[in-house]
Amino acid sequence: MTRDQQGVAVAPEVARTRGELAAARSRMTGTVAVVMTMGALHEGHAALLRAARDRADHVIVTIFVNPLQFGPTEDFDRYPRTLDADLELCQREGAALVFAPSAQEMYPAGEPAVRVNPGPLGERLEGASRPGFFHGVLTVVLKLLQLTRPDLAFFGEKDYQQLALIRLMVRDLEVPVEIVGVPTVREPDGLALSSRNRYLSAPERQAALSLSAALRAGAAAAGRGAGAEAAIAAAREAFDGVEGVEVDYLVLTDPDLGPAPGSGPARLLVAARVGTTRLIDNAPADLAPAQ
Ligand code: PAJ
Repeated sequence: MTRDQQGVAVAPEVARTRGELAAARSRMTGTVAVVMTMGALHEGHAALLRAARDRADHVIVTIFVNPLQFGPTEDFDRYPRTLDADLELCQREGAALVFAPSAQEMYPAGEPAVRVNPGPLGERLEGASRPGFFHGVLTVVLKLLQLTRPDLAFFGEKDYQQLALIRLMVRDLEVPVEIVGVPTVREPDGLALSSRNRYLSAPERQAALSLSAALRAGAAAAGRGAGAEAAIAAAREAFDGVEGVEVDYLVLTDPDLGPAPGSGPARLLVAARVGTTRLIDNAPADLAPAQ
């Protein structure tokens, strides 16, 4: 129960150990959904919680900054940790249970020797820039699915390749859960919400708008029937004259991240370094047939 009889939101139960999680999980009846996060929760995460609450009787939120998915030069140590504010957001959005384990609790035997291999899609795009990243993501996602045993699991389209790989894992490894994707939540000016946005200085935040601007320009060109190459070129123009942004990739694919189709539904994906902060974004596009 996440509301009392007056309809006032009740604080979620917090489980720190797998034992506490198992006990709370065993008391749940009906449909259970999980929303997995690394904390530093924002309105993007809140949208996942709302989507989950709409479909399930109980929502479990996991908060765990997973060391396995950070490279040696990445931001594991400085990743924001804001548990009190996170619990408030979970309460506001009606979560029943928050699982916030330590690294020792998640990996009692140390770093796992056995990891989920994401296959070829895991080596491209984000996987090319961040070796081992998706092995770390899929391994912790599978562990958290086993520990929480949900009927439904909600993930954001913001991390589009992650969502695609989780769908593949669940299909290929027969994991009994329904994966639900949730559209990206943006600031009014287009910037996709991200826990990492708080690293940006004011000028960097301004420069970071070039990512979403590129996606809009690319999608518009695609919709005009310009073709895939011209759509990418139109997207790339959004970075012209923008200082301090180094594009890692800017691609147009089919919705499953395969080669771009001649026409029809497609996806634009971008990654860039803004100062020292790596940002990603993506958007749907519809390639209209050439005029
Ligand atoms: P994190 O970056 O905290 O994101 C948690 C979930 O919130 C992911 O499904 C992500 O796609 C979603 N999300 C983040 N920003 C969003 C936005 N602006 N709009 C919609 N959804 C958004 O992704 C991870 O954590 C980790 O890799 C995790 C899956 C928890 C495994 O460690």
